Amino acid sequence: MIFKKKSKRTLDETQRSLISHYDPKSPVAEQYRTIRTNIQFASIDSSIDTIVVTSTGPSEGKSTTAANLATVMAQQEQPTLLIDADLRKPTSHYTFERRNLQGLTTVLSEQTTFEEAIQQTDIAHLDLLTSGPIPPNPAELLGSRRMNALLEEAQTEYTHVIIDTPPVLAVTDAQVLANQCDGTILVAASGKTEKEEAEKAKELLDAANGNILGVVLNQREKRQGHYYYYYGGK
Ligand SMILES: Nc1ncnc2c1ncn2[C@@H]1O[C@H](COP(=O)(O)OP(=O)(O)O)[C@@H](O)[C@H]1O
Ligand SMILES: [Mg+2]
Repeated sequence: MIFKKKSKRTLDETQRSLISHYDPKSPVAEQYRTIRTNIQFASIDSSIDTIVVTSTGPSEGKSTTAANLATVMAQQEQPTLLIDADLRKPTSHYTFERRNLQGLTTVLSEQTTFEEAIQQTDIAHLDLLTSGPIPPNPAELLGSRRMNALLEEAQTEYTHVIIDTPPVLAVTDAQVLANQCDGTILVAASGKTEKEEAEKAKELLDAANGNILGVVLNQREKRQGHYYYYYGGK
């Protein structure tokens, strides 16, 4: 998927990252809904409520995928929480234009409660737990019993919990989280992610019992112009 090309409506950079909200009729938003549907099919035997989004390396589209997936889930009017667990390079507070003084790390270090740290977004049914201030020991925090308790609490209040993480090949955080969640989505950047690296990432996630639901091929250039065509607009 790629959405850099202009559609009839021009979106600024923040809006482009949340295309499923700002341009829900766009083909890209449709693709995110397809991913949502596929996850729902994968949920038939065992319910998949907590989903980790990761990739092999940086800038492959983890945060964009996580934010849009959370958006299309919330659009089904089901309470959805996006957790920014990329404690190395958090970005969700920029995407949703929220403060980041409190968040996941302040809950895990018991400086704030879960309820206090949650922020509403402009999208109905979608709440956000930003990263909070970056700690010196992310992997330990994410692997802590408090993180497990937080995920359980989140599941009592939200139908879907989507978790943005750092790259799986860089640090162990995504593996640690994948182990605690129902499913993992691996984002690969077209023409950028190396096959060997994707295989290595899959091995690491499998070793952590990550239950890989699928791979999202991101930033794919399509030749046909109609892919970008904005339809059904004003
Ligand atoms: N499908 C896409 N088409 C165009 N640009 C994209 C796409 N996905 C992500 N980007 C852009 O690429 C950059 C990195 O994406 P991001 O989701 O932040 O990656 P990560 O979280 O893996 O580091 C951002 O500027 C984002 O807006
Ligand atoms: Mg990111």
